[in-house]
Amino acid sequence: MASTGYHRRLIACTMLIAAALFAQVNAIHIYLEWNVTLDSTIKPVSQDQPVIAINGLFPGPLINTTTNDFVHVNVFNNMDEPLLFTWNGIQQRLNSWQDGVSGTNCPIQPGTNWTYVFQTKDQIGSFFYFPSINFHKAAGGFGPIRVINRDVIAVPFPKPEAEFDLLIGDWFYDSYKSTRATMCTHLGAYYTIPDITLMNGKGPLGNPMSKAYESFNVTQGKTYRLRISNVGNALSFNFRIQNHQMVLVETEGSYTDQITLDSLDVHVGQSYSVLVTANQNDADYYMVASPKLINASDFTSLVGIGVLHYSNSISQVSGPLPVGPNPFDLHFSVNQAKSIRWNLTAGAARPNPQGTFNVSNVTLSQTFILQSSIADLYDQIPRYVVNNVTYSTPETPLKLADYYVNGTGVYQLDDFPVQSVNADASCGVSVVTGIHKGWIEIVLKNNLNEMDSWHLDGFGFYVVGFGIGDWTAKSRDTYNLFDPVVRSTVQVYPGGWSAVYAFLDNPGMWNLRSQLLKHWYLGQELYVRVHDPDPNPAKERPPPENLLLCGIFSDSPPPAPPPPPPPAPALALAPPSSWN
Ligand SMILES: *[C@@H]1O[C@H](CO)[C@@H](O)[C@H](O)[C@H]1NC(C)=O
Ligand SMILES: *[C@@H]1O[C@H](CO)[C@@H](O)[C@H](O)[C@H]1NC(C)=O
Ligand SMILES: *[C@@H]1O[C@H](CO)[C@@H](O)[C@H](O)[C@H]1NC(C)=O
Ligand SMILES: *[C@@H]1O[C@H](CO)[C@@H](O)[C@H](O)[C@H]1NC(C)=O
Ligand SMILES: *[C@@H]1O[C@H](CO)[C@@H](O)[C@H](O)[C@H]1NC(C)=O
Ligand SMILES: *[C@@H]1O[C@H](CO)[C@@H](O)[C@H](O)[C@H]1NC(C)=O
Ligand SMILES: *[C@@H]1O[C@H](CO)[C@@H](O)[C@H](O)[C@H]1NC(C)=O
Ligand SMILES: *[C@@H]1O[C@H](CO)[C@@H](O)[C@H](O)[C@H]1NC(C)=O
Ligand SMILES: *[C@@H]1O[C@H](CO)[C@@H](O)[C@H](O)[C@H]1NC(C)=O
Ligand SMILES: *[C@@H]1O[C@H](CO)[C@@H](O)[C@H](O)[C@H]1NC(C)=O
Repeated sequence: MASTGYHRRLIACTMLIAAALFAQVNAIHIYLEWNVTLDSTIKPVSQDQPVIAINGLFPGPLINTTTNDFVHVNVFNNMDEPLLFTWNGIQQRLNSWQDGVSGTNCPIQPGTNWTYVFQTKDQIGSFFYFPSINFHKAAGGFGPIRVINRDVIAVPFPKPEAEFDLLIGDWFYDSYKSTRATMCTHLGAYYTIPDITLMNGKGPLGNPMSKAYESFNVTQGKTYRLRISNVGNALSFNFRIQNHQMVLVETEGSYTDQITLDSLDVHVGQSYSVLVTANQNDADYYMVASPKLINASDFTSLVGIGVLHYSNSISQVSGPLPVGPNPFDLHFSVNQAKSIRWNLTAGAARPNPQGTFNVSNVTLSQTFILQSSIADLYDQIPRYVVNNVTYSTPETPLKLADYYVNGTGVYQLDDFPVQSVNADASCGVSVVTGIHKGWIEIVLKNNLNEMDSWHLDGFGFYVVGFGIGDWTAKSRDTYNLFDPVVRSTVQVYPGGWSAVYAFLDNPGMWNLRSQLLKHWYLGQELYVRVHDPDPNPAKERPPPENLLLCGIFSDSPPPAPPPPPPPAPALALAPPSSWN
């Protein structure tokens, strides 16, 4: 995937610079223009189907940034439906205005454009973006984000020969509009298995539906970094490369203890970096992503297949596909997940040790216990629920309502049970208080018989525990508080639980959601409102100048916010975050 269409500008800001702002001296701004279209010519598989393309590309272009860069993405919506993009795992520090989910932004209407401006701050690693509303993700529109280190920041492994982004995901043959319609029926809500697995938008090698397959060209003896993301709708997968091992090094912006793996489970919405050394004979090798909790012999198209091609290869791929763990063996998956730990001595985005962030002794301010299940609501249409509440998306983004009218008429703060399950299923605009600068424990329980995956915008969370079976207070004894990895998406095993800690130092309106597209679309989300009463815009940012209005604000401009913030300094004057 080429990265195209942007140029970098050095912004001279000598007059603004204070010596302490070392990171900002040469703030780099990256300008992207995206023409987003529904393309019916790309057809990643031999099936008529509209695909969301960005500048004609599927998957979309790489966003290649260095930590602290400012990214400007001018999105031209040339589709026939409202559109938003979200930046999975990019924390949008102090700036939930750019988060691009229904609770933070009015959608970009067809035929119009809107420019996101955000900073990839204090995060080094692998992420991806995707369209967040209207079930669009099922039609593509996703692409990789790399946040690379500034030169002064050490990386805990030798520079690889090259890097490859590898976006893998399940895919439906039907138009996303008909899949979306099916999801709102009994049959679709309960079942509907995707049809095929794509690697970077390409079908499996040898599959009659495939028009092309993915292939990475490597030089024998060299080491490569693969940045793997699960951009799919529903299925976790196990990734492996024939005859090759992988060294896990990074997940969603955290360097992990380096562990050598034969295969790696990647759940929906997660990203990992692995190092692969081309240390085998001069040949071609299979890269395989097989679905979890599905017997692939019944669904062969769901096994994604690509090729690791040695540049001096003398033979095509041969032999059986590399065998992975039994897809139903959850203990394998849990054990592997438990072995993924934070490297406390590796450098972070700033020149300080990651071990500064020690959760073994934190005082929790809040605990949420969130149970996910499915319920038939009064309209008899099944909806996915959290604590028996399904989210109902208001026309007015919560963030706007919060800023201008303190939520009035849009949501009722804390009208959601954060520790219990309502006796009756209901719809609600679920917005809960997250205590600013408090530590929160979020326990995610999965009452369903499928793998789930949960994500929090605005933060990296510490994955302190997970398991199969019920969570009780006693489960806390099993938490890893020593070196839990920090990431933004965690899997929740069927009938099991996962627990995370987060330090809520980032004020804003933050989406907490199931990453499974159907679950999210059918209501499995809530928002955490982290409020800092200090109006100083050097803290939480005021709305951007190009703020879109909609819902209760569409006919009349919003009232002046209480109290009006003083003029904003240049974005470059952001204080260092309280992260270190
Ligand atoms: C966007 O792409 C469509 C389809 O290729 C094209 O018709 C249109 O002119 C493009 N718009 C812009 C602003 O480039
Ligand atoms: C990403 O940006 C860095 C720094 O500007 C550059 O060295 C690298 O070649 C870029 N990578 C790609 C794939 O564009
Ligand atoms: C729309 O695109 C134009 C042309 O690039 C740009 O000047 C304008 O700022 C964009 N509008 C928004 C709301 O971002
Ligand atoms: C952690 O990072 C340090 C510093 O780069 C490195 O020397 C060490 O090998 C890493 N440890 C593991 C277990 O990966
Ligand atoms: C998958 O199904 C095949 C044939 O139906 C069966 O032989 C095999 O044991 C099953 N595999 C697993 C892991 O259940
Ligand atoms: C693979 O890379 C080598 C150089 O590293 C190049 O000569 C060769 O043409 C490439 N092969 C393919 C199939 O792209
Ligand atoms: C651990 O907590 C105790 C009491 O809550 C506090 O006095 C102590 O400073 C903390 N230690 C660290 C390393 O944070
Ligand atoms: C974390 O803090 C605890 C005491 O609160 C201490 O025993 C432990 O060594 C610390 N861990 C690291 C990695 O600094
Ligand atoms: C905003 O609403 C919250 C609860 O919904 C309330 O506690 C608070 O006092 C309100 N603030 C103002 C300034 O009205
Ligand atoms: C959720 O609500 C439904 C009725 O809508 C009820 O049957 C069910 O028992 C509730 N779940 C729990 C765990 O209370």
